[in-house]
Amino acid sequence: MSKTIEVENLVKVYRNGVRAVDGLSFSVDKGEIFGFLGPNGAGKSTTIKILIGLVNPTEGRLLVNGIDITKHTTEIKRATGYASQETAIDDRLTAWENITLQGHYYHLNGREIRTRSEEILRMFDLYERRNDLAETFSGGMLKRLDIAEALIHRPQILFLDEPTLGLDVQTRQVIWTYIERLREEHGMTIFVTTHYMEEADTLCDRVTIIDRGTIKAIDRPEALKAQLGGDVITVSFSANSEPTSVLERIRQIEQVLSIEKNGNGAHRIMVSEEGEKIVPQLFALCEKEGITIDAVSLKKASLDDVYLHYTGHAMRNAEESKETHFKARMMRGKARRK
Ligand SMILES: Nc1ncnc2c1ncn2[C@@H]1O[C@H](COP(=O)(O)OP(=O)(O)OP(=O)(O)O)[C@@H](O)[C@H]1O
Ligand SMILES: [Mg+2]
Repeated sequence: MSKTIEVENLVKVYRNGVRAVDGLSFSVDKGEIFGFLGPNGAGKSTTIKILIGLVNPTEGRLLVNGIDITKHTTEIKRATGYASQETAIDDRLTAWENITLQGHYYHLNGREIRTRSEEILRMFDLYERRNDLAETFSGGMLKRLDIAEALIHRPQILFLDEPTLGLDVQTRQVIWTYIERLREEHGMTIFVTTHYMEEADTLCDRVTIIDRGTIKAIDRPEALKAQLGGDVITVSFSANSEPTSVLERIRQIEQVLSIEKNGNGAHRIMVSEEGEKIVPQLFALCEKEGITIDAVSLKKASLDDVYLHYTGHAMRNAEESKETHFKARMMRGKARRK
């Protein structure tokens, strides 16, 4: 399969000294949906901005469509489409005005702009609403319009930086179907960043887990889960039990890889094998320490667990802080425009 993106030892040190990207190497096949999954500040947006020629790398070899990005920025801009993490829509303009403006930005002629805008708005089921102001659009429609705009110059590779951030679950799934259609019907290569596990799991052919500018794991979601091979035991201790000392002893069990407290106050214990044999040991330890267990469950590792294993922190916490940050930013944006 031909490689659309090839990155070797990519490094980005910003002027303030932040090493946002620290030696990434990966490649993306033509027609692949390739995901970057990582917490805040992992270097996802920086990598995208480098790959579309918006930010200069400090070091590294970068080929997009076989072309060296650093030397041929015009070709790269033509070959790639980009929908940034914050939508680029002007909500005082209509959908039609927004998308045609983008066509002018790419110096397309009037006829091209009209035909392509119609085609793309139809593809994203927004044509009927083309004369409505973007400020009347829902979050999901705005994101669709934003992705649509990135396609006006018919790029071969589409970069989507957190295309579903802050959207509800149903709307996220709708966005995925549009993304999948771009690959199915147009053979587009899609590079997507996300912090939603189910998005990476369902949408992406391959997922890269990135943290602090380095790649922790890269493979098909099923392969990542299979490599971990382990089980997850979730334990809820009784509210009036203080489990600190028993947790210490559980940690010493050979097969225990990690223990994390989840959002519901339960403890998630990742074990390398045979979880069903560990559960009785947990009960025995708790009994010895006089700790009561309210509930216990055992399941195979999910992508969430893979993430936790490689980054050492739960994605749920990152998701929450990120959505709060995103919503605050949206509110600030709205207030500014008033
Ligand atoms: N223009 C910049 N100047 C200096 N530092 C920057 C700049 N842009 C990003 N950084 C820093 O580089 C690091 C990586 O940021 P980046 O935006 O690439 O992460 P990210 O994975 O996209 O995070 P998020 O999930 O929050 O979007 C962070 O520490 C960030 O503060
Ligand atoms: Mg980002």
